[in-house]
Amino acid sequence: MTTEATHTDQRAGGTTHAGLQAWVDEVAAMTTPDHIEWVTGSDAEWTRLTEKLVEAGTFVRLNEEKKPNSFYAASDPTDVARVEDRTYICSVDEKDSGPTNNWMDPNEMKDLMRGLYAGCMKGRTMYVIPFVMGHVEAENPMFGVEITDSEYVVVSMRVMARTGVNVLRRIEELGENAKYVPALHSVGAPLEPGQQDVKWPCNPEKYIVQFPEERMIWSYGSGYGGNALLGKKCYSLRIASVMARDEGWLAEHMLILKLISPEQQVYYIAAAFPSACGKTNLAMLAPTIPGWKVETLGDDIAWMRFGEDGRLYAVNPEFGFFGVAPGTNEHTNPNAMKTINKGNSVFTNVALTDDTDIWWEGLENTPAHATSWKGQDWTPDSEELSSHANSRYCTPIEQCDILADEYYDPKGVPISAIFFGGRRKTTVPLVTESRDWIHGTFMGATLSSETTAAATGAVGVVRRDPMAMLPFIGYNAGDYFQHWINLGKDADASKLPKIFYVNWFRRDEEGAFLWPGFGENSRVLKWAIERLEGKAAAVETPIGHVPTPESLDTSGLDMSDADIAAALKVDPEEWKAEIPQIEEWFAKFGDTLPTQLQVELDGLKARLGVE
Ligand code: GDP
Ligand code: PGA
Ligand code: MN
Repeated sequence: MTTEATHTDQRAGGTTHAGLQAWVDEVAAMTTPDHIEWVTGSDAEWTRLTEKLVEAGTFVRLNEEKKPNSFYAASDPTDVARVEDRTYICSVDEKDSGPTNNWMDPNEMKDLMRGLYAGCMKGRTMYVIPFVMGHVEAENPMFGVEITDSEYVVVSMRVMARTGVNVLRRIEELGENAKYVPALHSVGAPLEPGQQDVKWPCNPEKYIVQFPEERMIWSYGSGYGGNALLGKKCYSLRIASVMARDEGWLAEHMLILKLISPEQQVYYIAAAFPSACGKTNLAMLAPTIPGWKVETLGDDIAWMRFGEDGRLYAVNPEFGFFGVAPGTNEHTNPNAMKTINKGNSVFTNVALTDDTDIWWEGLENTPAHATSWKGQDWTPDSEELSSHANSRYCTPIEQCDILADEYYDPKGVPISAIFFGGRRKTTVPLVTESRDWIHGTFMGATLSSETTAAATGAVGVVRRDPMAMLPFIGYNAGDYFQHWINLGKDADASKLPKIFYVNWFRRDEEGAFLWPGFGENSRVLKWAIERLEGKAAAVETPIGHVPTPESLDTSGLDMSDADIAAALKVDPEEWKAEIPQIEEWFAKFGDTLPTQLQVELDGLKARLGVE
């Protein structure tokens, strides 16, 4: 079926790939857009769409000298973060979505959403965005096609993923052999003839739905990054984790960095922290210890497969950074600042200064006056924050000065160490080394963190966030733990990455961070590497190996010995209080909890002297 729109729009395009064309026609017939455009990824297209967004009031063009080719957007105040309570894994069997995901029967969900999608693009243009997560030259390129009625999404997708005509041509060359994830997105705000659009169209009713068996995504009602840029969390984590389970690899919520020692030894590290817990910052770390260097490979997602040499290789499937703005500055993350200052970026829900630059809490040069993300006058005396806590910059990864050359290698980089971590005010020491892969898997499976503004809901509540994947595991989390254990069992143990657990966020009695964090985290990376090399000392504690105060390089660090000891402390009483929480967490999984994890918990209890 072909809609009239395809004939009338000059930029209609289309594809020789019959299956893809049929799906696009089917969606157009259901959603009834006024126009259809196939996204090419050209500069002219970017210019045309950003101009359209400026005209619509969605974008404000920023000061060309300060942020060339960059734009400011403020969302609807109700559409600022991922909506975990509206996110579903619609597997055929409910048990395959597990105890941590929302579930609905896939047919029931499709019926419900077809009702919402019917006519939902009226008065708008439907964009078809061919994209690939990872490299188009990969052995099995991970294609996707996102259909969206949001120009904001088209522009942001171009930054975050490899999109456009080159990808489409490759899909067409591969013909029916090209596997792609169909990803449908609508803001859910049809326009009647003559109806004036709002700056940020969205719908109070939201659904972010993954159909794992069909490798398909349907998203409705939100324009926010994690809900709408479907290559990111929906594909590269939720759908990809299911593919990874079936094919024997890992799709993880991890940054990837390259660490170079003063002796020019190179190590690759992956780290999983929940959203807004420090991935982007660690990925671009500027080490404070002399002679050590960091280069970036990725800040959010790692796809990891075993290579022929038995090592675990990681690839970053993304093409941009979608970073938390507040707290980012020349001191905490100079590399991010340099990246965004080159321009070609989109800033959402930060403050707009009077000279049309952007500002957020924690950035240098506090303006005397600005317009807040809510569109209100803001001064340093204002009670409300200028920027939403989950405001974001969206910027091309290739603009990052410290991007490692290996970013371009489809094979990826061999990982030496995996870090898990979260935000905990108490209990969890600065760094702990696991005894082995299974113990590391236990650390990951019991990872805990205080909730952040990256998802809607209460902030600061401690919850279990296994491998920082709680909102992103596309199947039963018990089976996911088993998958981790199985991969370790089948591998050569001497080649497996060593697993560590970190906490940059422990507080003192006054509530201040004990550890200065950011660039100083290089000291923890150094300790971990020296542990791999058998060079650094550690004390054995009930929870694993932690540094002796002497083994952690604290030279030049402005911290008292007492504070260093407090940051490293393992307090058995605090840990005893964790046990019931871990037991409650594990109880959710019933017989899908791998026995090995129960054995680990029993061992921890025995070491703590808990009954
Ligand atoms: P991501 O969402 O996991 O990528 O997290 P980000 O790296 O964007 O950081 C989220 C927030 O945590 C930002 O406000 C950062 O400034 C802050 N943050 C990141 N690393 C550290 C750290 O080492 N110490 C402290 N105290 N805050 C940090
Ligand atoms: P992040 O993810 O906070 O892990 O960077 C972005 C999101 O929540 O959509
Ligand atoms: Mn991030």
